[in-house]
Amino acid sequence: MKTYNINHHFGGIQALNDVSIFCEEGKITGLIGPNGSGKSTLVNVLTNVLHRMHGKVENGKHFARTFQDAKLWSNLTVLESFLMAQKSESWLYSIFHFSSLEEIKSAKEIIERIELTHHTNTKVRNLSYGQRKLVEIGRALSVTNSQILYLDEPFAGLSDISTPLVKDLILEEKKKGKVVLIIEHDMNIIRTLCDYVYVLDAGKVIAEGTPDECLNNKEVKEAYLGL
Ligand SMILES: Nc1ncnc2c1ncn2[C@@H]1O[C@H](COP(=O)(O)OP(=O)(O)OP(=O)(O)O)[C@@H](O)[C@H]1O
Ligand SMILES: [Mg+2]
Repeated sequence: MKTYNINHHFGGIQALNDVSIFCEEGKITGLIGPNGSGKSTLVNVLTNVLHRMHGKVENGKHFARTFQDAKLWSNLTVLESFLMAQKSESWLYSIFHFSSLEEIKSAKEIIERIELTHHTNTKVRNLSYGQRKLVEIGRALSVTNSQILYLDEPFAGLSDISTPLVKDLILEEKKKGKVVLIIEHDMNIIRTLCDYVYVLDAGKVIAEGTPDECLNNKEVKEAYLGL
């Protein structure tokens, strides 16, 4: 997945300034940078700010994504949230379409993978923040035909128990040959998970390379790590 010279403005603010990135298939690409540096905006632009968790990008590739703040319907149960994720085009269609036994089975399998089986019929509004994040991540992973996975701070708010679980799930997606782009603030996670990293600062790419190369870069240390 290649992007060239992406620019994006919010009124007078230039949120993205000539951003070009290349994310290889079968690799995990990290996107890091200070708050407000444009990370989420980049994913929103790449996915055409669809507010959908899956769909097609310009080159026809199918993506699945998570949002920084889980975008779930609080009145649906965990199972219903997954069944809804399997339909892309219209929520009206989703609500009036009866899910097949096969769809229910595969939804339950993913719910088991994220260790929320005991909450299968719990309404989303009664889940903790971390549990909602798990549902959001599980939903993105349930889009089996996706070739690109965008994850916006998937680890933020997760418990210590869930963090290794989500790491394993993301590594599985990499093994399937998907493009994985992950936005993350925790440098330990970046070091252990990412093959390549881009660093954004004030809407510009200020460094790229392996996690170690980026985290040892003088400009990155000054801009981001405050060293
Ligand atoms: N909908 C919006 N309307 C106006 N300005 C916005 C909007 N979304 C983002 N911005 C601005 O664009 C810039 C980039 O924001 P963005 O959310 O992409 O940063 P980020 O790197 O994801 O930050 P964080 O690490 O806090 O999530 C910021 O200055 C932000 O205030
Ligand atoms: Mg963000």
